[in-house]
Amino acid sequence: MQAKIVTLPGDGIGPEIVAEAVRVLRAVADRWGHAFTFEEALMGGCAIDATGNPLPDETLAACERADAVLLGAVGGPQWSDPTAPVRPEQGLLRLRRHFDLFANLRPVKAYPALAHYTPIRADLLDGVDILFVRELTSGIYFGERKEQGDGDDAWDTMYYSVPQVERVARVAFQAARQRRGKVASVDKANVLAAMRLWRRTVNRVAADYPDVTLEHVLVDACAMYLIREPARFDVVLAGNMFGDILSDEASVLAGSLGMLPSASLGTGTFGVYEPIHGSAPDIAGKGIANPTATILSAAMLLRHSLGLDQEARAVERAVEAALAEGARTADIAPSPDQALSTSAFTDRVLDHLA
Ligand code: NAD
Ligand code: IPM
Ligand code: MN
Repeated sequence: MQAKIVTLPGDGIGPEIVAEAVRVLRAVADRWGHAFTFEEALMGGCAIDATGNPLPDETLAACERADAVLLGAVGGPQWSDPTAPVRPEQGLLRLRRHFDLFANLRPVKAYPALAHYTPIRADLLDGVDILFVRELTSGIYFGERKEQGDGDDAWDTMYYSVPQVERVARVAFQAARQRRGKVASVDKANVLAAMRLWRRTVNRVAADYPDVTLEHVLVDACAMYLIREPARFDVVLAGNMFGDILSDEASVLAGSLGMLPSASLGTGTFGVYEPIHGSAPDIAGKGIANPTATILSAAMLLRHSLGLDQEARAVERAVEAALAEGARTADIAPSPDQALSTSAFTDRVLDHLA
């Protein structure tokens, strides 16, 4: 098949990890006889430096012509002044909103090969396989806000409407049907009005899925259960901010933040695919970042935007095989001398794909 993929490498380790995922996608194209074309565009801090705008019009236009977008990460200390008029992260939020990518899928698996590396007891990791469904275009990220300016107050609003909750809840219940039939909906209904609307709406949607078991979990307790009893979760449905925080927490179950991919989807097949982690300024430019999250995001791209499930599974199996035979980047290596560079790790994945 033919497909047009736009890459937005962004800042920090973004360019390093996107380059490796593109190598994997090229290998998939070769092996299965597909024709993928890649077009790179600017987003984030690099776009601010070049144009003053974190999401230039040309970038948006390129994304509009694409079947899917593969993104690295944006941001970094040089753009993090809290009084700066424009920030890299605004570009990412605008991109999600522009394409109405309301459902952010963040799968979390515990890899047996890494079970003795994570700080979590290995027996607790047995069978951990969670799908976070994070609402991505509303909530406190997009509610009414007052910037500080040079004044002495500022605020953000957690806003949700019934249709916004309903559509993302349906994504979670549909996904649960293909999995183990359980949804845990995360909220803070004991305190927040928007979260009481969330819970009421999720209950209503649940009535359409009698075959799926629903539980409501308050976000603070959820943060604890994710560590104490992670295997109890199947699909975790959460609002924008809670989903952001809990998925970084859950990355510890997988061994590293560098392991978790994501797909940001709307109603069609178009999607934006990115690791859940950020630009990791502390390790940028060293060639040591873990490319797994981005490679697995490319696999999600193959599956969700291009309908290439067999190819997606082959990429996922190649990653698992490389891990199983001991391939490790620094963040998951037992000692520094056992760590591979970003590209040497990808070579091992490519060996298994061939
Ligand atoms: P981060 O996710 O960039 O890094 C947190 C820690 O995890 C760091 O120690 C980092 O070295 C490590 N890490 C992350 N990805 C890794 C990988 N692939 N391999 C090995 N180690 C990895 O979070 P942060 O430091 O809090 O944020 C840095 C910048 O990234 C901020 O400007 C933030 O806004 C931005 N950010 C962007 C995105 C995105 O573009 N989607 C996501 C999160 C954070
Ligand atoms: C993520 C990031 C973003 C978010 C930031 C950079 C806007 O943390 O993709 O998880 O909070 O959504
Ligand atoms: Mn995040």
